[in-house]
Parts: sequence; structure tokens; C-alpha cells
Amino acid sequence: MDKLVIEGNVPLRGRLRVSGSKNAALPILLACILAEGPVRLRNVPKLKDIATTLQLLRMLGCGAEQNGEIVVTCVGQNLIPEAPYDLVRTMRASVLCLGPLLARLGKAVVALPGGCAIGSRPVDLHLRGLERMGATFELEAGNIIGRCKRLKGAHIHFDFPTVGGTENLLMAASLAEGETILENAAREPEVTNLADFLNACGAKIQGQGTSIIRVQGVDRLNGAEFGVMPDRIEAGTYLVAAVITDGELYLENCSMADLDAVVYKLREMGVWLQEGKSGVLVKRGTNLVGVDVMTQPFPGFPTDMQAQIMALMGLADGSGTIKETIFENRFMHVQELVRMGARIKVSGQNAVVRGVDQYIGAPVMASDLRASASLVLAGLAAKGSTEVLRIYHLDRGYEELEAKLSQVGARIRRVAQ
Ligand code: EPZ
Repeated sequence: MDKLVIEGNVPLRGRLRVSGSKNAALPILLACILAEGPVRLRNVPKLKDIATTLQLLRMLGCGAEQNGEIVVTCVGQNLIPEAPYDLVRTMRASVLCLGPLLARLGKAVVALPGGCAIGSRPVDLHLRGLERMGATFELEAGNIIGRCKRLKGAHIHFDFPTVGGTENLLMAASLAEGETILENAAREPEVTNLADFLNACGAKIQGQGTSIIRVQGVDRLNGAEFGVMPDRIEAGTYLVAAVITDGELYLENCSMADLDAVVYKLREMGVWLQEGKSGVLVKRGTNLVGVDVMTQPFPGFPTDMQAQIMALMGLADGSGTIKETIFENRFMHVQELVRMGARIKVSGQNAVVRGVDQYIGAPVMASDLRASASLVLAGLAAKGSTEVLRIYHLDRGYEELEAKLSQVGARIRRVAQ
């Protein structure tokens, strides 16, 4: 397992290009199952999870090639509606093939995703919604076996604005008979990007980005050309990298519009940001102060930026609080930050962060994608050397991380172990 070795306390300066969004590309790639013609996708990041999704598409009988752009072709009679456990367990988002397979083939055998480091991650809201549309499910040896005739449009109200659940139901509803209304739908920009892609293929979706999405089912979807949106969480991570190292970065290909809550909190801390034509300029500004953060569904503060802002808050004046309301176990970065000198106390879903003057480099263990990112951020600011172990977590979601950071002055290298 590789590790990253970081010599910290170096201000990052320069320009970085934000890659395409992992969390938009994953559902869009699986939505290709619905299209009867070839799909050509631009700005898909080169990540482990993308490679896993392409492997899943091939296992399902689709053609999937990545040379710069990605071309996916899913011919109906070649499709095999089975997503095996040994693949699903490596990437929970595989469950997003359920809706497309049921809509296109009327059958799906998908391993029930287990839990993961950050929580139990059930998919009950996905299944309940699909049942409302006429699907039936059995659980056999850990596999969800779904069957349906043609799915029927339904009025669905989510108990929680689930991102994956909204995406699965959007894809299913696109080919269903009649109208589907999704209430309390997720409003994340990645959901909007998926809906815009489906409409480019001929779907009839309205209301994406709001809590009520209406879908008029159609008989077929065609291939299309489409560009994946920039990765707002990668962008947010690099905003923090500039500030935590007391540097100055210009992030290209990113918009603050999708990061309003993060930008608001960073400015509240004393960070200076300015949006340009095609990017964002960011630097520390005045001395940083601790603030109160509560993660919420979009447009609230994103849970995927919680670990990163905690690393920054750990070096601010005074103290701040962080409440994690989305996942039940998303504080595993805390004890690793404490190993680097952070003063953080966790009680249930709440963390109190008391700022310290400096982190001291140390060997630390990555546990999930965004926790790993927060340890890298702390290492970039720390005095001395930090080793971040088990960085396969990072490779799932950050394209060319060490190359991008080195390009703006970080002293960071990957060491194979
Ligand atoms: C997506 O996960 C993202 N993953 C996550 O990003 C992100 O943290 C999350 O949305 C919240 O924004 C992808 O897009 C691939 P949810 P997802 O369904 O779809 C509960 C990252 O770091 N829930 O909105 O799984 C669930 O347990 C990853 O890039 C149910 O109870 O998120 C959780 O507590 C991590 N039943 C909450 O809702 C369900 O059927 C949020 O889940 C579905 C969800």
C-alpha cells in the first residue's frame, strides 16, 4: 500500500486546474445503460472509482473506452443485468446501476452494498421508490434481485433527500410509463448534472436542483455528447490547501456557485476569495478564527468538506464547532489530526475544535476519501514530515493529487510500500 510523504510548512502558490466531478461522472456513466446509442463524455476524471465504473459497465455487457474522452455503448441485447459483490463492495455507487437496469431490461441482480467506513449507508429509500414504480425485490445470498415489467411513473416522497436515491429514481423514471414526481429530492449540483445529461439523451426532466423533480417517461433514450461538471469538492479541498499553507492559489475551471456554503464559512473564518471569469483566487486574508459548521444536504454545508474545514479550523484563533448530520461515523480523521497536535474533542455527532499554533508532522492513517484529504492538508501546513498511510482511499477521488500539489510548491512524494 502506497504512502504520501509531505515536508510541510510551505506556502502553496500558483494555478491549479480543477478536474471533472467524481460524484457527477459516476451516475452519468451508469446512466449510459439507458441510452440506445453511443455516449461521448468529456471532462471525466482519471480516478480509481471511474476505472471501477468502466469495469462494471463492461461486466454488464457495455462497451466502455477511455482515451481522453470516454465513449460508452450499451446495446440492449448484449446487456447482462448482474453487478457482482466483489465489485460492488469496492464501490458503493455501483448500486446506481439498479435503476437503469430495471428501466432498460426489467431485471437487475446487484449485490447489496455493505456498510463502509463512514456509516451503514443503507439503500432502503432507493428500493422503496423503485417498488412504488412497480419493481419487486428479493434478497438472495446478499444480492438484490429486482424485477419489473415496464416501470410506471409514481409520486415518490423521500424521507431524506438522498443523493443516490434521487439519482437512481431519476434514471428509472426517464424510461418509465407516465409521469414521476420526486419530492424532497436531493438538490446537489451532481444530481442536476445527471438530469441535464439524461435530457441531452432525450429524457424529459424538469425541476432538477429543486426539491420537486418531475419526469415524463419516454420510450427510448439516444446517445449524446456531454461534459461532466467540475468537481466542487476537489475545488473546496484546494481552497483550504491555499489557506492552510498561508499561500495563494488560482483555481481554474471551478465556480463558487456550487460551493456557496463553503465559501460563506471560509469568509466567516477570515479567508479572502475572489471569483474570476473562469476560476477563483484564494488566500488567507486576516488571521483565521474558528466558526460553527453544521453539515446538511445541498445547499447546506457539504459533508464531503467537513474533514477539510476541520483541519483548517484546527489552526484558527479561538475555537469552533462542527456538527456532522449526514453520516453516523465521519470523524475518523479527528484522532489522526490529534496525533499532529490538533485539539479536538468529539461527543456524538459534535466536535469542538480549539485552534493551535502549528501542527507537528507525524505518521497518520487514512480511513476514507475525505478524511485522507484532511490529513494531507494538515501535513502541508505542519512543521516537519508527515506520512499519510493507506492512500488508496485518496486515489479514489483526487486526480493526480501529488502532481497538482507539487506544481504549486508542495514538497510531497508517493512512496510505494
Ligand atoms: C453521495 O453518497 C456521495 N457519493 C457522497 O460522497 C456524499 O457524501 C453523499 O452523497 C452526501 O452528499 C456519490 O455521489 C458517489 P445519500 P450517497 O444517499 O448517495 C442515508 C465522497 O466522499 N440514506 O445522500 O450514498 C445514508 O445512510 C462520497 O465523495 C438512507 O438512510 O448519499 C446517509 O446517512 C462519500 N437510506 C444519508 O442518507 C437510503 O436509501 C446520505 O446518503 C439512502 C441514504
